[in-house]
Amino acid sequence: MSTQLEIAVPFLDLKRQYEEIRDEVGEAIGRVLDSGQYVLGDEVAAFEREFAAYCGSRHAIAVNSGTSALHLALLAAGVGPGDEVITVPMTFVATVAAIDYIGARAVLVDVDPATYTMDAARLEAAITPRTRAIMPVSLYGQCADFAAINAVAARHRLPVIDDAAQSFGATQDGRRSCSLSLIGSTSFFPSKPLGAYGDGGALFTDDDALAKLMREIRVHGQDRRYNHPRLGINGRLDTLQAAVLLAKLEVFDEEVAARGRVGARYGELIREAFAGHEERVLTPWLAPGNTSVYAQYTIEVDERDAVESRMKARGIPTAVHYPMPLHLQPLFESMGLRKGAFPHSERASRRVISLPMHPYLGEEQQRAVVAALRAAVLG
Ligand SMILES: Cc1ncc(COP(=O)(O)O)c(C=O)c1O
Repeated sequence: MSTQLEIAVPFLDLKRQYEEIRDEVGEAIGRVLDSGQYVLGDEVAAFEREFAAYCGSRHAIAVNSGTSALHLALLAAGVGPGDEVITVPMTFVATVAAIDYIGARAVLVDVDPATYTMDAARLEAAITPRTRAIMPVSLYGQCADFAAINAVAARHRLPVIDDAAQSFGATQDGRRSCSLSLIGSTSFFPSKPLGAYGDGGALFTDDDALAKLMREIRVHGQDRRYNHPRLGINGRLDTLQAAVLLAKLEVFDEEVAARGRVGARYGELIREAFAGHEERVLTPWLAPGNTSVYAQYTIEVDERDAVESRMKARGIPTAVHYPMPLHLQPLFESMGLRKGAFPHSERASRRVISLPMHPYLGEEQQRAVVAALRAAVLG
């Protein structure tokens, strides 16, 4: 007897989204191709106006990936070789890699086990005379605790760079992600809540001087043509991606609302399916004042790897974000940190599993996912 389910459940459904906006995207791409301008240009300027307004920031600076955005933000914040930047181990490799690109040192602070974002209570103890920036990560679609983090940063006059690659569209106390600290940095990688059709990213700030500096660093540190007062990078966004993102922004509010409904529905279905076995699965917890865009719908279970393969056998794709905290990655061995250094991140990385998540996930599909989860966990 096959255990495969009748209903197909893709982990992500980018094609379905494309069908919804096919005409608008086609027109936007056509306009760019006709214009002959393929890097920066009018569409990027329009993107920056509209995305700044969307986030409630004075400035948006469009860049070519979330990784470039972090790298550029650190350069603009004046971080240099040997400086320390405080971040978390429970994140995608790019967060710490961006710090390494500069020759700065990542100083890690464990996450809060309930939100998986920086435990603000541990932040102050990590600050040293060499600290130059604080880089919390707004993981899985929920913003880090900016009230607490900004307060510590203000006491020590340190810039806060939000790695908001996974939280674009989320809110905290009514304010949008990317506008919650000195610099907000995001990614438009195709699988992100707002994805381009290629790589893309953006930086946000209210600070005029910093915005000007970030625009210069984005184009090889040039303040006018072929004049380079500082080192920069090639961080420019393609015009085509700006046009695609502008078209997608039109439907983004609806998609964010749909993501919220899908997330809430998972919570209900899992509660029902695990009645009497509540301790066997931990669903996402949103801190008061936060909404989530559920970049991932990530839960915790015992024996995660076995649960993952049992769900796969039933035709349900899952993913693990992330199976190894960054201090244990071979790449960062030179940090000299061992197992046990960050117990919350380590425990989470052993237990987390992300379920299929996208704004077009239907009731039947969600039921199929939760039925497979129940069978995989409870047998
Ligand atoms: C937390 C985090 N930071 C940084 C990045 C890097 O973004 P990109 O893939 O656009 O370079 C990602 C995206 O994968 C991410 O999830």
